[in-house]
Amino acid sequence: MNSQALLLRRLSSAMAVPSGASLVWSSSSVRIAEAGGRIGVGVAWSRPVSGVRGVHASVGREFEENGGVPSVSGGKGSEYLPPRFSVAPMMDWTDNHYRTLARLISKHAWLYTEMVVADTINHQQDNLDKFLKFPEAQHPIVLQLGGSNPEKLLKASQLASSYEYDEINLNCGCPSDKVAGHGNFGASLMLEPELVGECMAAIAEGSPGTPVTVKCRIGVDNFDSYDLLHKFVSTVSSTSPTQHFIIHARKAILKGLSPAANRSIPPLKYEFVYALIRDFPNLKFTLNGGVVSTHQVNEALHRGAFGVMLGRAAYNYPWGTLGNVDSVVYGDTTPRLTRRQILEKYVEYADAELHKYGHKKPGVRHLVKPLLGLFHAESGAGVWRRAVDDSLRSAETVHALLKETLTVVPDFVLDSPPPIETSPDSLLANLGPLPLAPLYSSFEAFQGVELNSSQFLDSKVQESMNLCSSS
Ligand SMILES: Cc1cc2nc3c(=O)[nH]c(=O)nc-3n(C[C@H](O)[C@H](O)[C@H](O)COP(=O)(O)O)c2cc1C
Repeated sequence: MNSQALLLRRLSSAMAVPSGASLVWSSSSVRIAEAGGRIGVGVAWSRPVSGVRGVHASVGREFEENGGVPSVSGGKGSEYLPPRFSVAPMMDWTDNHYRTLARLISKHAWLYTEMVVADTINHQQDNLDKFLKFPEAQHPIVLQLGGSNPEKLLKASQLASSYEYDEINLNCGCPSDKVAGHGNFGASLMLEPELVGECMAAIAEGSPGTPVTVKCRIGVDNFDSYDLLHKFVSTVSSTSPTQHFIIHARKAILKGLSPAANRSIPPLKYEFVYALIRDFPNLKFTLNGGVVSTHQVNEALHRGAFGVMLGRAAYNYPWGTLGNVDSVVYGDTTPRLTRRQILEKYVEYADAELHKYGHKKPGVRHLVKPLLGLFHAESGAGVWRRAVDDSLRSAETVHALLKETLTVVPDFVLDSPPPIETSPDSLLANLGPLPLAPLYSSFEAFQGVELNSSQFLDSKVQESMNLCSSS
């Protein structure tokens, strides 16, 4: 069998091509022909680092909605409903403890890890569980990697593969102007789309069968035109298996703004995300930035977003956001746990975790932190938080802390279902008739634009784990 035929056979099996369909090779793409009249497209890719050629098993949207039962192509993720709603990767926030709480509240939300730097994984091979292990119940879960060296990302992805994440994501959105070890990472990578393509191909090679995605901004500093964003997406998707992009709809300002200010000062431009949806019908786009309710999530989905990702709202108001996800976004109306039941289950997890990694690691304080937003805006919330502060001085277990403090929370709060979100503000109100970015026309638009990332890199080497934090 020649190599092309072999490749097509492997692809057919990876994509679970429906009976009656076949794969057709063309110069730059592989098409699925004739499957009940629907056509999907995959993209041929090559990995410049090792010269390996491969094909990404991407299916067009038509294929994903299969008799109302959506599925996700490839990987363990195909066992779950698709990431219509996801919780953003957040350093120091979306740790195992928060994700355990989030999963108790929502069965279907996709959960992202905090960013784990490739170097950390590669240097901590004897200690990988600390960085990569998660309770089985946390599926569907996505590992976010940080890095910009394809070989290191390949190795990290190989080491992570046995943990069976449902997807691996590369951070191209962290607004850092610092050099992390031997290279740049985060948003400055948007200035090097070819390198990102190499990184993504390497990650995919390290974890065969696991979908790979990119999380990025809409631009960086003055490199913020729609054409440049278009070129980034087009280059990365055509040189790697990446077919799904999570777009934080504001640009990153690499110098002079803290990471926290970079999440609020650059204006949100959802129209860039919708323009990508218009211009790349075979790719998937998840919209991120400033979304606070599940109604807004549905609004974006109805306008063509493949998914919507929430960060701060999902962390600060977990009950109001995650509590509505299963019913409002996924249409799953099976009764969910009350907050009393959630806390009962969380305590079991938390006290089993206590001091697992040495003295006070994690301590009661770490384990209680994700709970602090659980009663947001409810009667008794302020009194409870003050009681928690007091109790943290002496409580030796999470069970003891909750026993001591929950007495101030009324029963109806502990036992009530999530609030129904009323009068949701439209996420798109300010877009009026949706003036999308002008249609991308040609690569000539880039002539004269010098993509020189070195001007964004200063000489300081900083511990990369700090760079995305809330400081
Ligand atoms: C405390 C904190 C830490 C974050 N860390 C990361 C990170 O490690 N990787 C990343 O891609 N984005 C990170 N982000 C950005 C979020 O993933 C998200 O893109 C951003 O908060 C915008 O979404 P939101 O408006 O829904 O919060 C972080 C955000 C916060 C608040």
